[in-house]
Amino acid sequence: MNLKNLRNSALKEILGAKNLEELEKLQIKYLGRKGELTEILRKLKDMAEAQRQKIGKFANQLKWEIEGMVEKKKKELGFLSSVDKEWVDISAPGHKLPKGYLNPRTLVLRKVEEIFQSLGFSVIDSTEMETDYYNFQALNFPKDHPARDMQDTFYLTDEILMRTHTSPNQVRFMEKHNPPLRVIMPGKCFRRDASDATHDSQFYQVEGLMVDKNISVANFKAVIAEFFKRLFGKEVKMRLRPSYFPFTEPSFEPDISCTFCAGSGCKICKDTGWLEMAGAGMVHPFVFKSAGYSPYEWRGFAFGFGLERLVMMKYKINDIRLLNFGDLRFLKQF
Ligand code: DAH
Repeated sequence: MNLKNLRNSALKEILGAKNLEELEKLQIKYLGRKGELTEILRKLKDMAEAQRQKIGKFANQLKWEIEGMVEKKKKELGFLSSVDKEWVDISAPGHKLPKGYLNPRTLVLRKVEEIFQSLGFSVIDSTEMETDYYNFQALNFPKDHPARDMQDTFYLTDEILMRTHTSPNQVRFMEKHNPPLRVIMPGKCFRRDASDATHDSQFYQVEGLMVDKNISVANFKAVIAEFFKRLFGKEVKMRLRPSYFPFTEPSFEPDISCTFCAGSGCKICKDTGWLEMAGAGMVHPFVFKSAGYSPYEWRGFAFGFGLERLVMMKYKINDIRLLNFGDLRFLKQF
């Protein structure tokens, strides 16, 4: 075939290709091993010198031209070369990593720790497994004491259990440290409780203990009122309701005026205008004796509150179990 005709038909057909498949067939037709142009190039060596130079030049140029056309057309038809595919714009801004979120309980605990630290309290870590001795006996719950029934306990053996409250750390801490002292001891507690919107078998308490020579209920009131004020960001009314715990005498439960209705009565406070916040009291002489302190020399107050209750009030969460599910739709809101 005449090279000029070959060029015309090749360019026309290639330009007219409608898809990559068609184009590939044309590429084979013109440039393939058995292609027309290849055929001509192969015959070059048998030609006379002058002819070879003339035809050879033209044929080679045509080959490049067709190759170029094919490449151009390929792009037009959407073909991505590996270079195109792997091309990376290194100047493009990076992707942001998805952000993690802190459980609202962690947020509140940090706030609680910060407030008490600013009031001179140290934050002390403690273990979740306890002995019956520290969880009960050292705190004046003898074996068979009816108050044990208030705390449905997970026993691991006869003597070892999952702590039902953080109070055992009062004795543990006093055994190792001399008074005066001011500590809070936050941690996870366990009770064999059916779970519902306000109870779970795992929950956190924050235990507090202050011991010095002349501690009275007035000191407790001052500390705890300051704590609530800083936690809720405003002055809250407080009252101490008489209560009973084996390890405090007298025992009381501080209530604060309902933060939802400011005391006028609502569903959250069951129309009483008050919210129960904690258990508390003056350290019982029995507990000082358990720890090796002289009850004649030292006085102290102690308190323990449920962390989840604070969290639920602060963020208006109505189901304690949400705090333990790890559901991102919930956690992302804080
Ligand atoms: N440990 C008690 C409970 O779990 C709460 C409590 C009451 C802690 C009085 C105290 C306290 O430190 O003084 O119900």
